Amino acid sequence: MPSVRFRLNGAEMDVDADPDRSLLDILRGPLGMTGPHFGCGAGECGACNVIIGDRAVAACDTPLWSVADKDITTIEGLGSAGQPHPLQRAFIAEQALQCGYCAPGILMSAAALLKRNSTPSSGEVKEALDRNLCRCGSHNRMVRAVLRAAAEMESG
Ligand code: FES
Ligand code: FES
Repeated sequence: MPSVRFRLNGAEMDVDADPDRSLLDILRGPLGMTGPHFGCGAGECGACNVIIGDRAVAACDTPLWSVADKDITTIEGLGSAGQPHPLQRAFIAEQALQCGYCAPGILMSAAALLKRNSTPSSGEVKEALDRNLCRCGSHNRMVRAVLRAAAEMESG
């Protein structure tokens, strides 16, 4: 079986697996990255979002073969407990999470937005998070958190 090479959180990966398996399956299985969550499994909820290039993409709906030579970032590559990303700090400061199940996907959608647009408007943040479902209804706080992180990152 041909292997698929890509970069995951800055590290080179070479994965021997059926190229039609979903990226989410590969991340959570052989690669041990359990940050991206399984929600709908159909590209509709955003719980499994990762960043490919500068776009948030549903890993459940992305075949392994399609990420050859791409740069992939998961929540594990965003920040750490000791060195949280400004988005992670802002989500805590704004108490933007309840159960947290949606959080990895939402943070990746937000991080991808800030990669492309460092000073988004509230409307642009809402649009970027539009495809991420949060059954706890935390969206308003999340939008505030993303704007807070953007302001912090802009001010250096
Ligand atoms: S689990 Fe991938 S979009 Fe819902
Ligand atoms: S915080 Fe519970 S699903 Fe979003």
